Amino acid sequence: MLPVLLGATLAPAAAGERGRVPDQAAEQRVHKAVEQRVHKALDRYGLRDVAPADLEIGTAVAGGGHHLEQDYPDPFTYDEQYREALAREFSSLSPENQMKWEFIHPEQGRYNFEPMDAIVEFAQEHGQEVRGHTLLWHSQNPAWLAEGDFTPEELRAILKDHIQTVVGRYAGKISQWDVANEVFTDGENPTFRPENIWISELGPGIIADAFRWAHEADPTADLFLNDYAVDDIGPKSDAYYALAQELLAQGVPLHGFATQAHLSFEYPFPATLEENLQRFDDLGLETAITELDVRMPLGEDGRPTAEQLEQQADWYRWALEACLGVEDCNSFTIWGFNDKYSWVPVFFEGTGAANVMFEDYTRKPAYWALAVTLAKARWLGIR
Ligand code: XIL
Repeated sequence: MLPVLLGATLAPAAAGERGRVPDQAAEQRVHKAVEQRVHKALDRYGLRDVAPADLEIGTAVAGGGHHLEQDYPDPFTYDEQYREALAREFSSLSPENQMKWEFIHPEQGRYNFEPMDAIVEFAQEHGQEVRGHTLLWHSQNPAWLAEGDFTPEELRAILKDHIQTVVGRYAGKISQWDVANEVFTDGENPTFRPENIWISELGPGIIADAFRWAHEADPTADLFLNDYAVDDIGPKSDAYYALAQELLAQGVPLHGFATQAHLSFEYPFPATLEENLQRFDDLGLETAITELDVRMPLGEDGRPTAEQLEQQADWYRWALEACLGVEDCNSFTIWGFNDKYSWVPVFFEGTGAANVMFEDYTRKPAYWALAVTLAKARWLGIR
């Protein structure tokens, strides 16, 4: 923690009511002062130390998934520099792949808990929260499940057992769960995804059951809906808004709505992000940004330009400001922090540089944009 730096109140006279700065010159001075202190603080401390007390700042923990096909060992278990940054910078961890069905439940009746146990242990050692990801999803399911020949009754029992076993094992140690992930299709008329085995075999009512089972297994965890392309207000986030209302009306233990926020310069910044989170907040739900990254088209040398880095810094800042602007947006997670381990170049050909640190762990403008924005919120008490 930062006893000295945080004990100081920054320019209280310049900061008016609710931290609003009255004029531009004063705002500039405050900004400069924060910037200087942040740079000094982050010689030794991390983003988590400059964040407001009521905001968890998280990252995905690299391992499994696309990493298995790369020419490096599992980053979380192997890369010491990575682990140091993980502990220093973040107050929340999300398993990138280690809790997905294919990973944690590779054979029927056999669980592979070790990788996740190691993450939870690491988090406890470093005073970090954990976000569980995920329980009901169409993707990264093991072959035994995806290709299995089960009756609806059997499938239901399989899902119930999985949720109770996994959520129960980490009860009290996982604060938020992405219970249902990516249940809607994209486009103008979203429907429940036909390729979601649970929904297609058991009907959409299974979503409510998944929340109920998770809640039974850990009544202290906050249970979320999570998806991509739901940053803006639009048909897909409207579908979630309707689903959330329906689940709440039925008394289902739904506690939050999360947007992944995999952003790209190929599309505009989601200008209604804050407004969108706010409407879910108004339903009494928590909100979260769970997988933020900002990718961009790269030239032959694979290096972002200075302008791209500046634009990326703006986008990270805007996403963070949207979350800070919504009272119960209490968790802000980036999907990895180092370009070296990003899923982006593997999944979105010709794009990359989506994270806040370069491959050699030096910090990009986007990192400093997050740091300064967090510190302003904390030190000026803007939240
Ligand atoms: C990605 C991982 O980052 C990759 O390692 C893996 O190969 C595929 O999945 N939405 C989600 C995340 O909910 O689980 C996905 O993570 C990215 C999109």
